[in-house]
Amino acid sequence: MLRDLDPTRPQVILELGSGTGPLTEMISRRMHPESTFLSVEVDKELYEIAAARCPNTDIAHASVEFLPDLLADRNLDQVDLFLSCLPTPSLPQPINKVVFETWKRMSTNGVFTQITQIPWWFMPLYKRAFRTVTMDLVMLNPPPGGVYHCSDLYEDFDSAVRLPGKAAA
Ligand SMILES: C[S@@+](CC[C@H](N)C(=O)[O-])C[C@H]1O[C@@H](n2cnc3c(N)ncnc32)[C@H](O)[C@@H]1O
Repeated sequence: MLRDLDPTRPQVILELGSGTGPLTEMISRRMHPESTFLSVEVDKELYEIAAARCPNTDIAHASVEFLPDLLADRNLDQVDLFLSCLPTPSLPQPINKVVFETWKRMSTNGVFTQITQIPWWFMPLYKRAFRTVTMDLVMLNPPPGGVYHCSDLYEDFDSAVRLPGKAAA
């Protein structure tokens, strides 16, 4: 997940879905001291665990639906590292649309990094939205996990056939 984190220079880093904060903690430890880091978590209980674990990190207790506002509130108009730990395949499509639109508008390195607990399985899903998707297999994760590095979003990424997630009822 931290392939593109560069501890030698300040970066703007965004983590979506802090959970209990294991990655949040690692990012805050490894990043350049002048980096800006925002993590977002919707679940109150998980947010509180992550906030206690990383007291000096800006963790927003909010849904990523409000990502544009969360970034604007912090005067952020670009993001260097866009790290999604979200359950993207099972989120409602309108939420994924906000996330992808925000990534498209603000990403400086052009990479959407997405964690997965089922390597390969979701590759076709991300390939429908992005022209280029590579995967790093993480064997040390029990069971083996993976990270997709997605780039070159299709222009019609928000069409029903391309956008991951659950269609509105
Ligand atoms: C796989 S878990 C977190 C993984 C964690 N970053 C880690 O490294 O262990 C996914 C997280 O996304 C959060 N999440 C799901 N939907 C969300 C939303 N709409 N906005 C923000 N967080 C959300 C869940 O509550 C959950 O904590």
